[in-house]
Amino acid sequence: MDQLKRQAAARALEEVRDGMQLGLGTGSTAKHFVELLGERVAAGLKVIGVPTSEATRADAERCGVPLTTLDEIDHLDITVDGADEIDPELNLIKGGGGALLREKIVAAASDRMIVIADDSKWVPTLGKFPLPVEVIPFGLGATRRAIEKAFAECGVSGQMAVRKAKDGHVFVTDGGHWIVDAQLGRIVNPPGLAKALSAIPGVVEHGLFIGLASSAVLAGGDGIRVIERRKPKGDQE
Ligand code: 5RP
Repeated sequence: MDQLKRQAAARALEEVRDGMQLGLGTGSTAKHFVELLGERVAAGLKVIGVPTSEATRADAERCGVPLTTLDEIDHLDITVDGADEIDPELNLIKGGGGALLREKIVAAASDRMIVIADDSKWVPTLGKFPLPVEVIPFGLGATRRAIEKAFAECGVSGQMAVRKAKDGHVFVTDGGHWIVDAQLGRIVNPPGLAKALSAIPGVVEHGLFIGLASSAVLAGGDGIRVIERRKPKGDQE
């Protein structure tokens, strides 16, 4: 599996050109991309990156990839990031690693988002992977009830749980928020649910990435498949 993730990362690296400004994703697949990018930088490639998490910042620094912020540059050429699920419209569930907020800000600031994954992430319908919803701890009871209402209105339901870290304490994101993971099973209308969740006070962000991915690079036993998004970036319908 790790070999497949590295193959997908290597294929995405072929899109990178000298002088590009890159969004650097988070997770085990994105980590391969950062490592391979570091090798190219050591060989003379000139790029600059914006990391989507403190973990990726540390990896990029270790690999010698120069970093900047979205305050210092006005756009990114390409973001390369992993995903937890990818559907045929290139809608995504992200946030398994807890970096969804920065990942979405960085993806939205990019001309193109290339999703890299092993092909187990390719699904006909999103929802088997628990949907992460990043929330403010204050008023969480009210926020949870509003989330349940939004789920019902969008035709889904399922258990919700505040994410715990490995040490048993509540998982805290890089932004200081918490994550509620929702086991929905099957999300019938991802764009509708994304809009409903975004409208809830107390929800900082959610893991549905709608209309952001430009292409997906999927590595499997039979080789690599590149799937291009049919609709223009930002088109949510
Ligand atoms: C982190 C993410 C990751 O991209 C997603 O969880 C996939 O991770 P991995 O490549 O380790 O399977 O969204 O917030």
